[in-house]
Amino acid sequence: MKQNIIIAGSSGSIGGEFTKQYTDDPNVEKVVTLSRNVNNLNHEKIQSIKIDYSNEATFKNLDEISKLDSISKVIIATGILHTDQIKPEKSIDSIAAEDMKQVFQVNVFGPILLVKKLIPLIKKSKGVKIVFLTARVGSISDNVLGGWHSYRSSKSALNMMIKNLAIELKRLNKEHVVIGIHPGTVKSHLSEPFLRHVKHDIFNPKESVDLMTQVISKVSQTDSGKCFDFSGKVIEP
Ligand SMILES: NC(=O)c1ccc[n+]([C@@H]2O[C@H](COP(=O)([O-])OP(=O)(O)OC[C@H]3O[C@@H](n4cnc5c(N)ncnc54)[C@H](OP(=O)(O)O)[C@@H]3O)[C@@H](O)[C@H]2O)c1
Repeated sequence: MKQNIIIAGSSGSIGGEFTKQYTDDPNVEKVVTLSRNVNNLNHEKIQSIKIDYSNEATFKNLDEISKLDSISKVIIATGILHTDQIKPEKSIDSIAAEDMKQVFQVNVFGPILLVKKLIPLIKKSKGVKIVFLTARVGSISDNVLGGWHSYRSSKSALNMMIKNLAIELKRLNKEHVVIGIHPGTVKSHLSEPFLRHVKHDIFNPKESVDLMTQVISKVSQTDSGKCFDFSGKVIEP
């Protein structure tokens, strides 16, 4: 059966590449793209829906997809590290409550409220793979550098939500799989200000998505709740 796929953050570098690849996939019937601005990607398979995590009223727009028979994958490729006003904090002194709330709104609250809204559709589908873009810096055991307080801790919180959701969805249907995936360091709006400091490989979005697509296709029920990197290696919490 042909697949229906939902991609949040389709306007981003990584979400945009996932959208392109799944749209080109002959096994995919429909790609529902979610973004703050309606996509101008002109393709008959794409249904574009406007949602903004900072405005929960926009989640109502998702009612449009309740008529789908089923979905097979949800890719959540949204996230912020910085905005025009927000910079990742180098020290505790620079933490500001409103900025931290905004980072959590986009990196944690939005994605999980999105999945909450999709639960009726997930319930009528079999073996849905829900993939959250997370980051290695959300791993507590891997943290040796410190800093980036809001971003790091938002990704740690997201990783906990991934685990919780995996446990809960398993009770609904053992075939559902929920994972987090770290894309590597990828050229994008999010990473751009920091790339000059990077000493390891930097991927373009296609390289990263090619690798992540392999990981996503291989994960099964026993992997649900875990976080992986782009090569399929488990990232310890
Ligand atoms: N790039 C990297 O090196 C890297 C490394 C580790 C993890 N990641 C993770 O990978 C994911 C994708 O990042 P990326 O590099 O592709 O970044 P990106 O190009 O900046 O894309 C970020 C996406 O998030 C969306 N977004 C931001 N604020 C939103 C809001 N209020 N409501 C709904 N959507 C919102 C953006 O939409 P707009 O276009 O409307 O702003 C955009 O689609 C993120 O979760 C990030 O943390 C990236």
